This record gives sequence, C-alpha cells and structure tokens, in this order.
Amino acid sequence: MDYKLGLIGHPIGHSLSPWIHAQFLDLAGLDGEYKLYEGDHQQLPKVLKHLKQEELDGFNVTVPYKQVIVDFLDEIDEDAKVLGAVNTVVSVNGKWKGYSTDGAGYIRSLTEPFPNLLNKNTSVLLLGAGGAARGIYRALIQQQIGRVDIANRSANKAEQLIASMRLPDIDSQVLSFQEAEEQLANYDLIIQTTSVGMKPHIAKQVISLANLSADAVVSDIVYQPIMTQLLQDASARGAAIHHGHAMLLYQGQLAFEKWTGHTLEINHLVDELEKKLRG
Ligand code: ATR
Repeated sequence: MDYKLGLIGHPIGHSLSPWIHAQFLDLAGLDGEYKLYEGDHQQLPKVLKHLKQEELDGFNVTVPYKQVIVDFLDEIDEDAKVLGAVNTVVSVNGKWKGYSTDGAGYIRSLTEPFPNLLNKNTSVLLLGAGGAARGIYRALIQQQIGRVDIANRSANKAEQLIASMRLPDIDSQVLSFQEAEEQLANYDLIIQTTSVGMKPHIAKQVISLANLSADAVVSDIVYQPIMTQLLQDASARGAAIHHGHAMLLYQGQLAFEKWTGHTLEINHLVDELEKKLRG
C-alpha cells in the first residue's frame, strides 16, 4: 500500500516534517509520500476538500490551523478536545479523526534519554502557557508527576491553562518569572515552552538559572537554534539538557504510528536531525 500523508499549515515551506516522515517510511519499509499542502485561511476549505478527494490516509496540522481544523473533523480524541487543538488527523473510510500528539510526543522524547526522570516525586517547572505548554502540561499530569508549576509572563493565561484541563487533584501553582527564579532550586525539570530565545533573538533567555540545581534537567522546546542561550547556560552550570527537536521527532513518530500501525525505533534520528539543524 502506498501511504498518502501530508501537512497543512501556513507558512510550511521550511517544515522538517517531509524529511522526518520520509525517514519513517524508509525505516518501516513502507511506500508512500508526505506532501505539503499550503494555503492561507481563505484557501483552507478548498485545501481540505482536495485532501478528501485525494483520499489521504492522514495528515499533520500546524500553525495557524490547529484550532480551526476541529470544525472540519468527524471525530475528536478526548485529549485533543480538552486541549482545543489537533496536530494529527487520521482518515478511516473517509472519516477524519483528530488527535494531539505534541504532549505525548514530548514525554517520549524526554523519557528516551532520561528514563527515570518522571515519577511521583518529580517537581517540574513549566515556562510558558501557550499551545505547546498546554499539551505538555496535560501529558505531564497524566503521567502522575509530583508537581507541575507554571511560570508565564501573563499569570491569568497560566491560571486558565490549569483550570481548563478538567483534571482534579493537580498540585500546580502559578508563579511569576521572578518567583520561579527564586525557587528554581526546588525543581528537577525545567521545561521552556515560550518563543523566547528563538531565532533571530538568540541572545534572549526567559529566566535566569542562577539558582538551578546541578542535578536538574533543563529542556527547551525551541530548536532553532538547537543550542539556545538557556541550554548553554544550563549546561555551563552542570545540568543535563534536552533539545527541542527531539519533541518534533517523537510527535511525528506518534502520528506515524496512528497512520500506519508501525512503532518505530527512532532514537538515532535525534542525532541525525541535530546535525541537519546545525548545518
Ligand atoms: P505556542 O503555541 O508555540 O506555545 P503561543 O500559544 O503563542 O505559542 O504561546 C507563546 C508563549 O510564549 C506564551 O506563554 C507567551 O507568554 P504570554 O502568555 O504572556 O503571551 C510566551 N512569550 C512570547 N513572547 C514572550 C516574551 N517576550 N517574554 C515572555 N514570554 C513570552
């Protein structure tokens, strides 16, 4: 069977997903293609109609359509429903079902290199409360992590994030960046999900790591540049670091699993993609 896969979004000309899924198809020994279907907001209904006609087996959804895609689906997975965002669509007999693989993909990317990091005693500090933070927060809570606090520029967005998850018994506090800096030594894992530090503002760092525990892991979902200012700082302080491109690979691995039923061993691709990104 020739798999017909793809990505919708705008702009997506520089997306790494075609490269990633070409590797996956190759690893799985499957024939298929992963194409880019770009269109602006006005063109979206037409683009989606085209995907239906082409009988795609599935596709990814990226910015700015992760929310609006919901209106075009026949079914939505429970997690995606709560998150209000879909990044993966699976077609079964022409019916489209939406999922969000970002959070679970992030967890997989983290537990591969750090298998013992996440448990009921782990304290996590999440920096940011946007779309990416929502998926990661929910996936962390589902792993029954000890506590997950959120620091965000706008506190109300972090409050809303926690309230919207509809999960009882969450040990979560909202902090200012200053409070997060002061209490940093309490955390085993710091996850940076804001756009701060992303190219071209590579000298920016969302919080100071002066009080970081040397036993902590610092994770940054920004992957352009691959070595953000925050990760450089963490590394200089003796902490272990986790790069953002691994999340991209593992959310893709989960999508690929849903489309083809193949669970792939993709650890080696983390290094390969890193090399590609370093250029
Ligand atoms: P994504 O889907 O990639 O998470 P998003 O939903 O736009 O993107 O969220 C961006 C996140 O980066 C938010 O947490 C945002 O903070 P606010 O909620 O206060 O807007 C954060 N962010 C963006 N620019 C920032 C900056 N200069 N300083 C601090 N936080 C910033």
